[in-house]
Amino acid sequence: MRVVRTIEQLREATSFMRRTGQGPVGLVPTMGYLHDGHASLLRRAGEMCGTVVMSIFVNPIQFGPNEDYEAYPRDEQRDLELAEREGADIVFIPTVEVMYPRPIRSKITVSSLTTRLCGASRPGHFDGVTTVVAKLFNLVQPEYAFFGLKDAQQVAVLRQMVDDLNMNVEIIPCPIVRESDGLALSSRNVYLSAEERRQALVLSRSLQEARKAVEEGQAATTDEVRELLTSVISGSPLADIDYAEILTFPELEPLEGNFPLTRAEGEIIMALAVRFGRTRLIDNIIFTPKEVAALV
Ligand code: PAF
Repeated sequence: MRVVRTIEQLREATSFMRRTGQGPVGLVPTMGYLHDGHASLLRRAGEMCGTVVMSIFVNPIQFGPNEDYEAYPRDEQRDLELAEREGADIVFIPTVEVMYPRPIRSKITVSSLTTRLCGASRPGHFDGVTTVVAKLFNLVQPEYAFFGLKDAQQVAVLRQMVDDLNMNVEIIPCPIVRESDGLALSSRNVYLSAEERRQALVLSRSLQEARKAVEEGQAATTDEVRELLTSVISGSPLADIDYAEILTFPELEPLEGNFPLTRAEGEIIMALAVRFGRTRLIDNIIFTPKEVAALV
């Protein structure tokens, strides 16, 4: 595994791999503090690609002024051990000065998809994500790029960017990885106290209950599902709901409150963002209610 820290080293390392027939190239962009979710992205990339490039960069332009950019957990040594164990060939670890040597004056904005869910609570966040990912795509020129579906809105936004701008890369969405008790893996879980961690299980539990209620016909409309989600989450006193939404996926369009979910064409997403103290957690389920309706 090669660790590169400058743009010249990165370009030289990826073009060597291509010249020597070790493609296709897969990119796994991360902000580090790696966990099993990232490991699953590396493994998927290893199955599909001759060369796996992982980037580790806590991207300042996707954090708002009152967010956790400074506090975001970092552990380069541990990250490198995981990356090597899971088969990364090249790890790119730039500094902020390498990625943004001068104030950036160009950015990529994906409209509409970024106005809801995390886009509403974190203004400017997705511009920061699309801009840094576009830079990474330009630098690495991967055939494939791997992203976890815990950030389902990010996946939808990046796919839109790639389609709109004819970028020559395929986005590969990968399933959410959970602890055995259901908590979705996130680098931010490290912020949780033991009690917050215990109560945070309400995210996955409420999503499972809501899905079951749709499957069994107990909650038929968007309003009913939203009410169910919020009432289950409110049972945890430390939970402060940022949003609990039901939207079409990947368009992220709202469904009318009294809309019968089994009439939704295609997939829907039930998406949550909930704060526990200073930690904001997200989780979601994507499924096709029509398929569920056909089974019952
Ligand atoms: O999902 C993340 O970790 C980040 O948003 C990403 C895609 C690495 C861009 O900084």
